[in-house]
Amino acid sequence: MSDIGVALIGTGFMGKAHALAYRNARAVMGDVPGVRLVTLVETPLPKAEAMAAQFGFDRATDDWRAVLADPAVQLVSITTPNGLHREMAEACLAAGKHVWCEKPMALTLDDARHMEAAARASGLVTQLGYNYTANPAFTHACRLVQGGEIGRVIQVRGWVDEDYQADPDLPWSWRAKIKDAGLGALGDIGCHLISLLTGLAGPLDSVVAEMETLHQTRPLPDGTGRAAVENEDAASALLTFASGVKGTFTASRSAWGRKSRLGFEVHGTSGMVIFDQERMNELQLYQNRGERAKAGFVTILTSPDHAPYGAFCPAPGHQLGFNDLKVIEAAGLLRAIRDRTAAPLDFTAGLAIETAIHAIARSAREGRRVTLAEM
Ligand SMILES: NC(=O)c1ccc[n+]([C@@H]2O[C@H](COP(=O)([O-])OP(=O)(O)OC[C@H]3O[C@@H](n4cnc5c(N)ncnc54)[C@H](O)[C@@H]3O)[C@@H](O)[C@H]2O)c1
Repeated sequence: MSDIGVALIGTGFMGKAHALAYRNARAVMGDVPGVRLVTLVETPLPKAEAMAAQFGFDRATDDWRAVLADPAVQLVSITTPNGLHREMAEACLAAGKHVWCEKPMALTLDDARHMEAAARASGLVTQLGYNYTANPAFTHACRLVQGGEIGRVIQVRGWVDEDYQADPDLPWSWRAKIKDAGLGALGDIGCHLISLLTGLAGPLDSVVAEMETLHQTRPLPDGTGRAAVENEDAASALLTFASGVKGTFTASRSAWGRKSRLGFEVHGTSGMVIFDQERMNELQLYQNRGERAKAGFVTILTSPDHAPYGAFCPAPGHQLGFNDLKVIEAAGLLRAIRDRTAAPLDFTAGLAIETAIHAIARSAREGRRVTLAEM
């Protein structure tokens, strides 16, 4: 097939990750359609022009709607703040463009539902930025768990902690405002944890949750006083999966010292698997077999035996990085467009994650167990 024409909206943390992923996907994987980096969208225009030159895009604009009518663009990456995702994604789908949108889908569950319906009606390929599910260490954990290597799953525990809002004197920003950010820690990082836990143990049935705004106000950047933080800094939940398995969930954006502590333990009747994103190239596996005196966790370092690690590097234990996960994500998306199949984490799969985080928030607000079916 001919190269897929790409437009990128936004060039912050995620915009750069998408740009690098497009540039590297075919070089790393080989069996991936080529891309042409057609249009970069950013504001103001001089910044768009500078970033287009840096990332290697043909053109730059400060008007994202310009990509809608451009026949050279078949795929649009949306890496703008959450409040812009719905409008941009729906417009791109209506214009016949495939969409790779960052998580969370939108500010509200209703918005996410509209996006999912638009995606289904369009027949186009969509993907959400759940990069941690692309980690070969994670897919290996899924194989171990689902292949019975730890027996029957009896408990699933997950956590995601970061410290980007730990400082009580950090200036107030849009992140604290429901209208601009939507959920707090749940929407920012809790959704990643749900993507891993449901990947391991299947869909959720219900949740019982609490959430808290740990720092109720923050200083205004212009020094005129303090403003309220409207969304949660932390949330905890008891989870019941559709399989009946129980689990736990904790998320905090105010956990000093934790930088990307996204992880889980899966407890089985004959063993356990543990993962920690701060050590993203390894798993801990315990199997209750052999001599008791020699029993203990083994550390599995990812290697060419854990596809697609070998596409990046022929040597075991040499380690992938965060941006490599985006390359794996991009490759899955480009193959899905070529093969006319669904991408691994499309808007329908994403809506289930969105439903879970909003169920956790609702349970916390209403002080009762909430089933996902009632959302
Ligand atoms: N998958 C992940 O691990 C991950 C990590 C961080 C952020 N995210 C998500 O990615 C999205 C972006 O977050 P970020 O950290 O990259 O933010 P960011 O602030 O670093 O970048 C956002 C960019 O969008 C640009 N932008 C805003 N409005 C625009 C418009 N109308 N037209 C063109 N450009 C516009 C901004 O100028 C900025 O450069 C969010 O939805 C966030 O939740 C995902």
